[in-house]
Amino acid sequence: MKRAVFPGSFDPLTNGHLDIIRRSSPLFDEMIIAVLNNPDKHPMFSVEERCEIIREVLPTVETGSCKMIVDSFSGLTADFARKSGATAIVRGIRAVSDYEYELRMALMNRRLEPQIETVFLMAGEEYSYVSSTLMKQVFELGGRVAGLIPESVEARMRSKMS
Ligand code: PNS
Repeated sequence: MKRAVFPGSFDPLTNGHLDIIRRSSPLFDEMIIAVLNNPDKHPMFSVEERCEIIREVLPTVETGSCKMIVDSFSGLTADFARKSGATAIVRGIRAVSDYEYELRMALMNRRLEPQIETVFLMAGEEYSYVSSTLMKQVFELGGRVAGLIPESVEARMRSKMS
């Protein structure tokens, strides 16, 4: 049984994340989408809200027979992956600029848990500039984010602002 962890902040979930989930699902039997609970950050959505959003949107993604689980975690991704019985950590690469940071994380995670491999997937070109941070910024300043985040996420962002 091949189990993977896809860790992230997911604040909020974007269509880029969904693209990575769709692309990685044929590679694994089970995937845990793991939302980081980072008390140092001031997220737009609470961890509970982020998990709820992912659970709500997941049925719209083609994930075939891969079982999808949504969970949250605190502390190290490598610890969470080991405790979950995962053999892989999935991360998306959008552009070369992501590579250096992702490489450092992958090497550190491998040092911490040598039996867990990081699997990088290339995001679709149409999402190469999409990040949660950029989506929040553009949305807060009144720009259009339709097509880049799920509609339900946009609706929740609207109600947060009002
Ligand atoms: O969606 P993000 O914000 O790019 O995700 C980054 C994340 C959550 C994968 C990374 O910050 C992380 O793994 N944090 C948990 C703490 C940890 O394990 N730090 C060491 C990484 S080598």
